[in-house]
Amino acid sequence: MAPRVDALYFFLVGLAVFFSLLIAGLIVFYAVRYKRRGKDDIGVAIHGGLALELTWTIVPLLITMVIFVWGASVFFAMASPPAETMNVYVVGKQWMWKFQHLDGQREINELHVPIGRPVKLIMTSEDVIHDLFFPAFRVKADVLPGRYTTIWFQPTKPGRYQLFCAEYCGTKHSGMIGQVVVMDPTEYQTWLSGGAPEGSLAEGGAKLFASLACNTCHRPDAQGRGPVLEGLFGKTVTLQSGETVAVDEAYVRESILTPSAKIAAGFQPIMPTFQGLVTEEQLLELIEYVKALQNVPQVQTR
Ligand code: CUA
Repeated sequence: MAPRVDALYFFLVGLAVFFSLLIAGLIVFYAVRYKRRGKDDIGVAIHGGLALELTWTIVPLLITMVIFVWGASVFFAMASPPAETMNVYVVGKQWMWKFQHLDGQREINELHVPIGRPVKLIMTSEDVIHDLFFPAFRVKADVLPGRYTTIWFQPTKPGRYQLFCAEYCGTKHSGMIGQVVVMDPTEYQTWLSGGAPEGSLAEGGAKLFASLACNTCHRPDAQGRGPVLEGLFGKTVTLQSGETVAVDEAYVRESILTPSAKIAAGFQPIMPTFQGLVTEEQLLELIEYVKALQNVPQVQTR
């Protein structure tokens, strides 16, 4: 993304420099050219000019439209990650960045990624608003408590790159920094296999699902008191109110913390809240578990 952002940036700077010089130059030129030469010198009255009016309306309009279309195309490219991404969860807290790989690796203030693969970060905060900024990749987004925001980038060169918190978040805001380590795919595989004694996020979620007794109501056989979760992620469900909602990370999160907010049609609002019982990291594990139920056959014994 960096070359595209830079191209637009330098175009804007070039444009500003060009018009600044042009206007400053003309001011000086006209000041000299039309300076008052005698005591009785009086300028000629001017009564407008259609051609001039049209020129200074249409030219800026065309220039701003170029900037708008160009800027929008870069913005949309930044806002829409490719279909196949490597997802990493990010939890910001005062004052550190926690990165969780789907395979289970957990990192603090350091993020390892392989070269050449689009990486999507799904981010939330445990406390206040933070903002994750990767200057080298030209991507940056707010990280908000109670919500998931995403950014994506595709590393192209191995190396270490700075990451910052770019939203004032308290005493040690300036220390809320870290590094992205971009590695060759083979090195990355070696790095991956070096950790994760605790298993993948989805496996952690499966254990939680059982220990929180979610499985007593959410059963795969449609006999439970709660909706069947198998194959649910990514689908659209109808609510009691008749509205529909897409089952995404935000909906799963809300359903765990505020179950009564959006009750699926045909079910009773009997699920207790898990607010305060699960951490942000555990929520992510549960979400990954629900995602992993995608490819599981409808009937299975657990
Ligand atoms: Cu977190 Cu500033």
